Amino acid sequence: MSRLSVPRPRLAEPNAGSKWQAEALRDEFPILQRPIRGKGLVYLDNAATTQKPRAVIEALRRFYEELNANVHRGIHYLSEQATQAFEQTRSAVQRFIGARSTREIIFTRGTTESINLVAWSFSRRFLQPGDEILITHMEHHSNIVPWQMVCEERGVVLRTVPLTSEGELNWSAFERLLSSKTKVVSVAHVSNVLGTVNPVREIVRAAHAVGAKVLVDGAQAVPHLPVDVQELDCDFYAFSAHKMYGPTGVGVLYGKEELLEAMPPYQGGGDMIASVSFERTTYNTLPYKFEAGTPNIADIVAFRAAIDFLNRLDMMEVYTQEEKLTKYALTALHEVPGVVIYGRPAHRCGAIAFNLDGIHPHDLGTVLDQEGIAIRTGHHCAQPLMDWLGVAATARASFGVYNTVEDVDRLVAGLYRAREFFHL
Ligand code: ALA
Repeated sequence: MSRLSVPRPRLAEPNAGSKWQAEALRDEFPILQRPIRGKGLVYLDNAATTQKPRAVIEALRRFYEELNANVHRGIHYLSEQATQAFEQTRSAVQRFIGARSTREIIFTRGTTESINLVAWSFSRRFLQPGDEILITHMEHHSNIVPWQMVCEERGVVLRTVPLTSEGELNWSAFERLLSSKTKVVSVAHVSNVLGTVNPVREIVRAAHAVGAKVLVDGAQAVPHLPVDVQELDCDFYAFSAHKMYGPTGVGVLYGKEELLEAMPPYQGGGDMIASVSFERTTYNTLPYKFEAGTPNIADIVAFRAAIDFLNRLDMMEVYTQEEKLTKYALTALHEVPGVVIYGRPAHRCGAIAFNLDGIHPHDLGTVLDQEGIAIRTGHHCAQPLMDWLGVAATARASFGVYNTVEDVDRLVAGLYRAREFFHL
């Protein structure tokens, strides 16, 4: 076998017996048809952002061509139609994540803004100096930095749960760190680097037992597995549309109604008020109390098409198919000489972080890019996790519903090409 031959792992065909085939879905994504550097695109950077199906692109175009008006403000026809379409997305989100009410669904700019909203608003109402916030060592910067800022301003203490050598949350350390001082536990549902799926239901149960509230960063979970916020019983759940085949600039914050009711507004401005005078301003009802200013109407309306797309695929089926593809990829990558894979979580999805011994991940990313293969390299906005792994950076392949065995094979071939290029 030549060094450039692709070793094919002897695994069952990942799509065998499935409701839909990843290959067939590719036709729905115009960008996947375009050649990159003269080669077919292999897009393995889905944890950064996913590509958009034609239905989402069409919904965006249709909004601007047929519906464009501001929402919640006008009594004219277009404004009513735009408002209706906008609120239909809210209802679709509510059903998609199993929330009790649309009052619990707040639109934001993305997961980052959703977490910042909770960090600032919750802390103003509920946190006192000496209280503690518990996060984990695998968090994305957006679930670290807002809490650091809150801690600095309010005299609150940030504590971090370490990981096991498998890259899972260290449960006994978590239990040790939880106490009556803990007021918030904020944790990723799925790690954007290791792909670890955290036991959110158990975390929530343990946190509630000491009176703490739980925020789940679901950015990397919602595109890959079925999420039911009532079943999880989490207090807040944050995610982004653009990682689930929807438009950029749209995020969701789910919060339990009684908590959102008790929290002060995050930003002031239009739409979040009931009445304004210089003597006294009163606030709008939920969810509008947290939606100051003109929202990202067009993208929120188009987000509905992404949810319809995922509903059509069925999230359990998405999970099952991606799980098989991830297993296939792990086996294939392990066979490449010099590949180091980070983390061995028992329950994982979405992403595989790795390095090729002797090649800087940025150089590897550049060689793969020449082959039309898009991966992410760097610290993945998780520098504390990189420190824990003992590396400055890694390569990361992350999957979406349109990724196929051929994509993985092309990645593996690219790794062999990199080895050859760097004379390894
Ligand atoms: N949070 C995104 C990622 O992990 C951008 O790539």
